[in-house]
Amino acid sequence: MSAHGDPIPMISRKGKPLSGTAEVPGDKSISHRSLILGALSVGETKVTGLLEGQDVLDTAAAMRAFGAEVTRHGPGAWSVHGVGVGGFGEPADVIDYGNSGTGVRLVMGAMATTPIAATFTGDASLRSRPMGRITEPLALFGAEAHGRAGGRLPLVLKGARSPGPVRYTLPVASAQVKSAVLLAGLNAPGETVVVEPEATRDHTERMLRGFGAELSVEESAEGRIITLTGQPELRPQTIAVPRDPSSAAFPVCAGLLAEGSDVLIPGIGLNPTRAGLYTTLREMGADLAFENEREEGGEPVADLRARFSPAMRGIEVPPERAASMIDEYPVLSVVAAFAEGKTVMRGVKELRVKESDRIDAMAVGLRAAGVEVEEGEDWWIVHGRGMGGVTGGVTVQSRLDHRIAMAFMVMGLATEKPMRLDDGGPIATSFPIFEPLMAGLGADIAREAEPADA
Ligand code: S3P
Repeated sequence: MSAHGDPIPMISRKGKPLSGTAEVPGDKSISHRSLILGALSVGETKVTGLLEGQDVLDTAAAMRAFGAEVTRHGPGAWSVHGVGVGGFGEPADVIDYGNSGTGVRLVMGAMATTPIAATFTGDASLRSRPMGRITEPLALFGAEAHGRAGGRLPLVLKGARSPGPVRYTLPVASAQVKSAVLLAGLNAPGETVVVEPEATRDHTERMLRGFGAELSVEESAEGRIITLTGQPELRPQTIAVPRDPSSAAFPVCAGLLAEGSDVLIPGIGLNPTRAGLYTTLREMGADLAFENEREEGGEPVADLRARFSPAMRGIEVPPERAASMIDEYPVLSVVAAFAEGKTVMRGVKELRVKESDRIDAMAVGLRAAGVEVEEGEDWWIVHGRGMGGVTGGVTVQSRLDHRIAMAFMVMGLATEKPMRLDDGGPIATSFPIFEPLMAGLGADIAREAEPADA
């Protein structure tokens, strides 16, 4: 079942070369943060290029529920009239966060130091994901969480009455946990410190500074030490959201895999904490160029040009790169299937607690399509079959996971026989224009009238 309606079975087939230009939507991480920080500012924040995927729409609804005025003016053009740090009001109803781990975790942080209560739930995927990693550090501020076993949703969070600042070392490499602690620290007097042994995406830090918070980052033997001074008055901003490198990954990899292709994906955010996939693809021998490199809205941006790359080689992906490409392993494993030799991915246990267990979801589908995969708790190896060497011809499950769905649809553009998907519905959480965008490049990806037998 899709998160928001009936299943949408899909099929993807090898066809003509992909060509042309495709404009992918705004960055999901930055879109969530634009709405949340806008809601915590006093005055009006204006956003262009906002991703209008379901996950971000759920954050817009959540910000309204906490009292901010959130208005859509046109495609991607939004404004948020904020209530200020500590100004959240108590939501009148349960907050249903659908599929979005980022949204619910960041918002739990943002409300944890305000004396209100809120109840959060989500779809079957979100209800199965660990929330203890958020509620434990929030308890240090004085917030109280009551959830199901393992701290899972539905969960009631009672914000702290008199929060104190916190020093917290991240036990997992997670930008969501880091961000939840920093957002909670906003309404605690004094200095909240997050120690991050492994660097993760730094949008929260960059944006907090942009909104006028006092925040410093120091590199040390322990890792990155982030210090935030609490109770700032955040100033509203005008934000142009860069295009999402995690969404760009799908048309880029499609361009590498579909015979004869040459595609241009312009204006992609290439913050180094997000761009690991592109380094990896180049190491594999992908014909991938960064054109017109520039800076936009404080983030490095480039146009990505991907051409058919029939002679890619499997590599060992450095584990220390994992955080900078954590959402891209599903589509990387598809590219790896068409490379020569094996691709080894280690240090990736976080993949098991994403929207689905992404190692298992990909391994099952890849094996069914004729690709050998080995796996352990925090590693997996894809044995490449070379370009033209993958049979396909199977129906795979998207498991309420947008990136699993899109990865397999990209795969079908290069397998001998079509790839079918039980449900493409989850794609709308992060990439609502995936189908028309891929069709515009000439990809044969379509909805099927009848549910495929899974
Ligand atoms: C995100 C952080 C990552 C990533 C997710 C977006 C964010 O999750 O997988 O898609 O915007 O902070 P983790 O913090 O669980 O690694």
